[in-house]
Amino acid sequence: MAGVIVALDKPSRAEALEVVDTLGDVGAFYKVGLELYTRAGPAVVEELRARGKKVFLDLKLHDIPNTVAGAVHAASELGVDLLTVHGVGGGAMMEAARRAAGGGMRLLAVTVLTSHSPDDLRVVWGREVRSAQDEVSRLAELAFASGMDGVVASPLEVAGIRREFGADFLLVTPGIRPEGTDQGDQKRVATPRAAVEAGSDYLVVGRAVTRAADPRRALEEVLAEVRAVSGEDH
Ligand code: C5P
Repeated sequence: MAGVIVALDKPSRAEALEVVDTLGDVGAFYKVGLELYTRAGPAVVEELRARGKKVFLDLKLHDIPNTVAGAVHAASELGVDLLTVHGVGGGAMMEAARRAAGGGMRLLAVTVLTSHSPDDLRVVWGREVRSAQDEVSRLAELAFASGMDGVVASPLEVAGIRREFGADFLLVTPGIRPEGTDQGDQKRVATPRAAVEAGSDYLVVGRAVTRAADPRRALEEVLAEVRAVSGEDH
């Protein structure tokens, strides 16, 4: 069955842990991103672990292989379960990350940021870019060949990547919006049902849970929808 990861996009340790404590037993897996990690550091990961939670550390590492390997090793020692690196860091960087990852930590590559249009990529890379989708595919291929466990993919990319790389490649999908909730600044969104049906392994849900009037109930509803679709599969 697909899992649900709650994105703790909060500006302080206290606000993040308040979400975790509100969700209680219902929340099992949390994403710590750049803002929270820069403010609260490894201590917030340790506090999540102390509460028995799994941690997705979304740092999107991109540097020379030796430096990334050091950070990956440090994240393994912290007890992180999932960590992101940038696919555009290249094969040697991802292979170094692979070798440095221990303790069962899985590595995900980020392909093309959803904030980048083909025009942005053209300027940055200095060459023709036909579609962001082609570049997502190309970078997913490099990530697969470099030993990454999977990629972060928008709900609209999941089905194609699943077809191309098979059942064992981990697909983690943000941009989840339960029926009837605000789309916010996300452009490529899908309901939990659609993401699971497309083949996503983990759904990352942020504001639809953390800003709900009743976050615990909102998460329970997402989990129930995921369970219902998974049940239909078997
Ligand atoms: O609040 P919302 O559900 O939109 O949050 C989604 C989370 O997933 C945020 O932490 C956001 O940074 C992250 N994310 C995303 N789109 C991507 C990559 C990551 O929304 N392409």
